[in-house]
Amino acid sequence: MPSPDTSALGPEFLWGAATSAYQIEGAAAEDGRSPSIWDTFCRVPGAVAGGDTGDVATDSYRRWPEDVALMRTLGLDTYRFSIAWPRIVPDGTGAVNQAGLDHYDRFVDGLLEAGIRPNATLYHWDLPQALQDRGGWPERATAEAFAEYAAVVAARLGDRVTDWATLNEPLCSAWIGHLEGKMAPGLTDLTAAVRASFHLHLGHGLAAQALRAAAPGPVRVGLANNLSPIEPASDSEADLAAARRADGHINRWWLDPIFGLGYPEDMLSVYGVDLPVQGDDLKTIAQPLDWLGVNYYFRQIVADDPTGPVPGFRQLPGPGAQTAMPWEVHAPGLEQLLLRVTHEYGARDLMVTESGAAFDDVVGPEGRVDDAERTAYLEQHVAAVARAAAAGAPVSAFYYWSLLDNFEWAYGYAKRFGLVHVDYATQQRTIKASGHRYAEIIRQAR
Ligand code: IFM
Repeated sequence: MPSPDTSALGPEFLWGAATSAYQIEGAAAEDGRSPSIWDTFCRVPGAVAGGDTGDVATDSYRRWPEDVALMRTLGLDTYRFSIAWPRIVPDGTGAVNQAGLDHYDRFVDGLLEAGIRPNATLYHWDLPQALQDRGGWPERATAEAFAEYAAVVAARLGDRVTDWATLNEPLCSAWIGHLEGKMAPGLTDLTAAVRASFHLHLGHGLAAQALRAAAPGPVRVGLANNLSPIEPASDSEADLAAARRADGHINRWWLDPIFGLGYPEDMLSVYGVDLPVQGDDLKTIAQPLDWLGVNYYFRQIVADDPTGPVPGFRQLPGPGAQTAMPWEVHAPGLEQLLLRVTHEYGARDLMVTESGAAFDDVVGPEGRVDDAERTAYLEQHVAAVARAAAAGAPVSAFYYWSLLDNFEWAYGYAKRFGLVHVDYATQQRTIKASGHRYAEIIRQAR
């Protein structure tokens, strides 16, 4: 089958894959790492499917050389990973754990030796439990602690890592972790959620400043937001208003402040919670962005739901094919989002920092995984990125989520997103058909 037409992406376009620390590293008590809020959440009965934890995951803390070799086989230009805050500043503030820094130091060197450009995320949800014990993201001190940690990491790795994301999907940390209670720290408290969202943004701004000040080399700082195109379920006034609220909750709340537009007024009144803004906080939050990361998984078709939780909408299943999550496969949504952030927010450099799909993979007799649905997903989403670029979106990279099957948060190990299959009993890695196809797409794009 011919590859998607990627000619609009240009020769400098970077092809990558992404993971995050808690989802792959394992080695939970190794080299001075302290517990994170996810270690705690995994121990809450019923919080995570199958009682799974990230204690071992794909054991990538130890097996990273094998993972880097896989990246080379796939022909990746770049790899997006996250750094575990509890490995670097185990108590959240204060003493720095050199053994944790040494690990990422070796890992970054390993990537560079393999010709793979690192893209490091500072926070992919693994807050040190010690900071949660002192109030977590609803408290301003957590944003300040984040900047302290960012400076430590930048001083050590900023001579070799150019691309940095402060946060991954702050929406999940704030809304799913503090409002819906389905992710760590498992709260269902609107005030805590809104305060957490604000301090995540403040932490982003402070960490961006700290990164730029502390890195010995040139750095390009951004963050990764998960966004969704929103469609009303009908033309009724109620559904149209619900769609506007959903757009505020999912997209505008997370984009407006970082692009210097402040917080959306309509959502401030929907939430009815005072933001703990001090002094120049809104300016701090709106640090210049070298790039914006867009994580895309699905569109949302929404209906009014006045009896549901704030902000009063419910998501309806879309008509397209479903992944194992189950999330609707809808590649045009990615094109739409990339064009929206280009035209509405004036984003000057975009990376698709995540896009991927879980399916119930079957391992064949010779260990082959013929994941035709994931392969089709990949082709469709790469084509959508190329169409967006052709229409003027300044998109410079695509990271498939994920390099490996891994710990999928509250779903445990039951959902597999990888280009590479992991047998969790033996830790054997096997490139799936989608991984081979990605390698081919990358080769043909060059
Ligand atoms: O696995 C997650 C990742 O940690 C953040 N973005 C969405 C992925 C799939 O759910």
